[in-house]
Amino acid sequence: MDTLIKNIKKLVQTEDVQRKWVAGKDMAKLPSIDNAWLLIKDGLIADFGTMDNCPEVDEGTELDVQGRMVLPSFCDSHTHIVYPGSREIEYGDKIKGLSYEEIAKKGGGILNSSKLLAETSSDDLYEQALERIHEIISFGTGAVEIKSGYGLDTENELKMLRVIRRLKETTPITIKANFLGAHSIPMEYRNDQTKFVDKVINEMIPAVAAEDLADYIDVFCDNGFFTVEDTERILMAGMKYGMRGKIHANELDYSGGIQVGVKYNALSVDHLEFVGPEEIKALQGSETMPTVLPGAAFFLNMKSSPVRDMMNAGLPVALASDYNPGSSPSGNMKFIMSLGCINYKMTPEEVINATTLNTAYAMGVQDELGSIARGKKANLIITKPIPSVEFLPYAYTSHLVEQVILNGELVALD
Ligand code: NIG
Ligand code: FE
Repeated sequence: MDTLIKNIKKLVQTEDVQRKWVAGKDMAKLPSIDNAWLLIKDGLIADFGTMDNCPEVDEGTELDVQGRMVLPSFCDSHTHIVYPGSREIEYGDKIKGLSYEEIAKKGGGILNSSKLLAETSSDDLYEQALERIHEIISFGTGAVEIKSGYGLDTENELKMLRVIRRLKETTPITIKANFLGAHSIPMEYRNDQTKFVDKVINEMIPAVAAEDLADYIDVFCDNGFFTVEDTERILMAGMKYGMRGKIHANELDYSGGIQVGVKYNALSVDHLEFVGPEEIKALQGSETMPTVLPGAAFFLNMKSSPVRDMMNAGLPVALASDYNPGSSPSGNMKFIMSLGCINYKMTPEEVINATTLNTAYAMGVQDELGSIARGKKANLIITKPIPSVEFLPYAYTSHLVEQVILNGELVALD
């Protein structure tokens, strides 16, 4: 069935020729059409243009969206939304002054979620994650990458990844799965980290691959977590099974994570609070998307990643939510845009590029999502009536998503 959306105040992020990402100075440009229409056929964007040549549809639905804007759905290329419970107790510790690393050292943090996960049934885990999926859809997210990483043993990592597969099968949002076996070192391996890395490589990766449960492979390559050498070994092992790297890097220090990610052609390196000239040089000319997670930096009160330096060096930058119970308990990509503007001094155009096409690339879906282009999936946001595109990040807590279309269908929002 066809759907015609007409009288669109502004159709944002349009493309006649598809780009793989937006980089450097181009990030300040946001191609858009005023007073536009958009036609959806079989779940895909069939065509679009200006109202002076609006087509008629004989059969199908017409949506008159006067005063409203239409954008491609957000792609959230870094989340951990399959997790049990919550960790607001650590929030108190953090407010009192304990750092993320200090909490982790005490056996808190990721290990707390891991303990609870082992006691949680798959059905319960699925239901909790489903609620978060509905929440992010209502915020305008149309594609999400989800990591494992709270299992920390083979059985529980498989449990998480099977939940992600069930979410793929039962929800209209596009999902990519990322195997993060090396998220934290379990207490019993704290004196022999290499033994745990061996287990990830020899036991977990083959088991994950046998059920084809992961599109990507992740490692938390940082101070106090996994080393460059660990990361190298895990990335190589994953690549043998066709899992490309998408890794946590340089959140806590100049860890070498960015360089090792680029060396193994990771699709993205994420966090990036610690980036200097060497890291920027490594990223230049690579196929790796630098991805910044402003929600985690905000929640943990960390220094901001030097996003402007990266863009000045001609790099693309993506912004994702990192939705997880420890460092970013929110998947609101509109708020991520606001943080991008306020804390990283990005312009509204830059943050829209960073949360749509660049995050689509960072999760390997840039051919099907991330912009308004003919043939791409019709995953769209219809805003409430708003005065300008800048109003979206400006009104930083207003809920401005009125309707959501996924695969060409209007989604009922709670
Ligand atoms: O991306 N940095 C590592 N992992 C997550 C946090 C996970 C957690 O604390 O539960 C992150 O911030
Ligand atoms: Fe993360």
